[in-house]
Amino acid sequence: MADKKLAILTSGGDAPGMNACIRACVRYALTKGYEVYGVGRGYVGLLEDDIFPMDHASVTNIVQLGGTIIRTGRSKEFACVEGTGKALENLKKRGINNLIVIGGDGSFHGVQRMYDVFGFNAVGIPGTIDNDMGYTDYTIGFDTACNTVLSAILSLRDTIASHDRIMVLEVMGRNCGDIALWSGLAGGAQTIVCPEETSDVNKLADEVNNIIVSRHRESALVVVAEGCKEIEEPLMKRLREVTGRTVNFVNLSYVQRGGSPTMLDRVLAARFAIHAVDLIEEGKGGRAVGIDGRKIIDVPIADSLYGEDKEFNHQLYSIANIISK
Ligand code: F6P
Repeated sequence: MADKKLAILTSGGDAPGMNACIRACVRYALTKGYEVYGVGRGYVGLLEDDIFPMDHASVTNIVQLGGTIIRTGRSKEFACVEGTGKALENLKKRGINNLIVIGGDGSFHGVQRMYDVFGFNAVGIPGTIDNDMGYTDYTIGFDTACNTVLSAILSLRDTIASHDRIMVLEVMGRNCGDIALWSGLAGGAQTIVCPEETSDVNKLADEVNNIIVSRHRESALVVVAEGCKEIEEPLMKRLREVTGRTVNFVNLSYVQRGGSPTMLDRVLAARFAIHAVDLIEEGKGGRAVGIDGRKIIDVPIADSLYGEDKEFNHQLYSIANIISK
């Protein structure tokens, strides 16, 4: 059974759909004859020997849960070769030679080190709400986060419509504008501010004012990606000056990291999991699972980290601008 032992960990920021992915990995691997283990708190738990068996029942009733039942963490010690080697000893002493890591690019650096330096059969599954990984169209959690933003927009619109106000809503995404773009488009935001597009405060404020005047609108919604944080204060000041209206601010923050995963995230999680276990079975460590169009793919982990930059969908941004103004 030496090669039929598989460990699973979640690392970095939690993302809705991680549990659906853990469940699919565990159950599919069991059908393939693996003994399956969970690692608590990501690489932190790997270093601290927090490793436990997982069976069919251990993942019952979790497909609908946000967060990650095996918990997650960020470890500085694991980020160096010595730390990685030390952590891998905890797997090896149990005869575990396979590992699936569900996380973002920070977590994938760990997969690369385990594979490149130690030849360990480790595979990465992209799990982050940010959708900021260039090699894959989608990451687990992105769709749910966008839908959570949409629910918030629905509520915020009640207030701005009742009070004739302008609302500036900050959403997450680190340096990636995807959450802002997709939820802003779907939520009918009058303006979307993303790090991938140039943004001039005066121009943005004039744009919003023009919409209010020319479309006889009483309220407006501006969605700002966290990567453009620095623009929020000056933009709100300018919006007040130009429109003469009350401008409110909401940072959705961690609300958008939690919650029950959407159907799309659960299905994506299951498809990624099956592909990852198959890669493990074939001994194809050092690879990252992703999706290209409708097809599940895998690429060398180094390409997922250093390959093509995340391509921002400028066309979608233009569409949002056309239909929301
Ligand atoms: O990567 C997910 C994310 O939620 C980002 O959108 C955000 O910038 C960051 O994590 C927050 O990180 P932390 O959990 O360390 O506060």
